[in-house]
Amino acid sequence: MAGHNLMAPRRALAVGFLRSLTAGLALSTRPSRAQMAGSGSKTLVAYFSRTGNTRVIAGQIRRARDADLFEIRPAEPYPEDYEETVAQARQERDAGHEPPLAGAVPGIGAYDTVFLGMPIWGGTAPPVIRSFLSAHDLTGKTLVPFITHGGYGRGQSVQVIQSRAPRSEVLQGFTLEADQERRTLETVTRWLRDIPPSR
Ligand SMILES: Cc1cc2nc3c(=O)[nH]c(=O)nc-3n(C[C@H](O)[C@H](O)[C@H](O)COP(=O)(O)O)c2cc1C
Repeated sequence: MAGHNLMAPRRALAVGFLRSLTAGLALSTRPSRAQMAGSGSKTLVAYFSRTGNTRVIAGQIRRARDADLFEIRPAEPYPEDYEETVAQARQERDAGHEPPLAGAVPGIGAYDTVFLGMPIWGGTAPPVIRSFLSAHDLTGKTLVPFITHGGYGRGQSVQVIQSRAPRSEVLQGFTLEADQERRTLETVTRWLRDIPPSR
């Protein structure tokens, strides 16, 4: 069904290092296959991912649980530049800003379990996750967070989910340390110093 972003998972071909390198490209050219709304599944996997770490987990949960998949996206994409994104995310976090979403889950009422995936941004859930929780009535549903971070843990993210979805049962969920875009960029920059420029 066109017009919303229920998407089929991308294959987990470009992982780790490669995934970070191609993140900007993937953001703008990611192929999407719309998934049938009203599939009958009672499980939804909703996730936000910038560089793909969280997306890989979302795809695995979707396959294992035969769930529907929804990519949470801001109406206005974050900059491709990492430092600009960090600065914008910090501003939004400090201001409590909830960026408008590109789309909402159609028929959220049909699901009884929602797996909610996110990276940690600035020690907490990204602003767009707060937008998602504000935009959807998750009353009575089981919420299962899955979280990736770059080495500093999941911070305040679960408390944010609990406070924004007070009428849901929030499970402990899953937390994984994953690649950090900053580290990848610094490593590549160091490596490139040894490669002679074109003549
Ligand atoms: C704007 C921004 C802020 C981040 N802040 C943190 C942080 O506070 N703590 C942390 O451990 N990792 C932080 N990271 C790293 C990501 O949480 C980590 O790389 C995550 O796995 C990315 O998931 P994704 O590939 O699904 O976007 C940050 C990354 C970005 C882009």
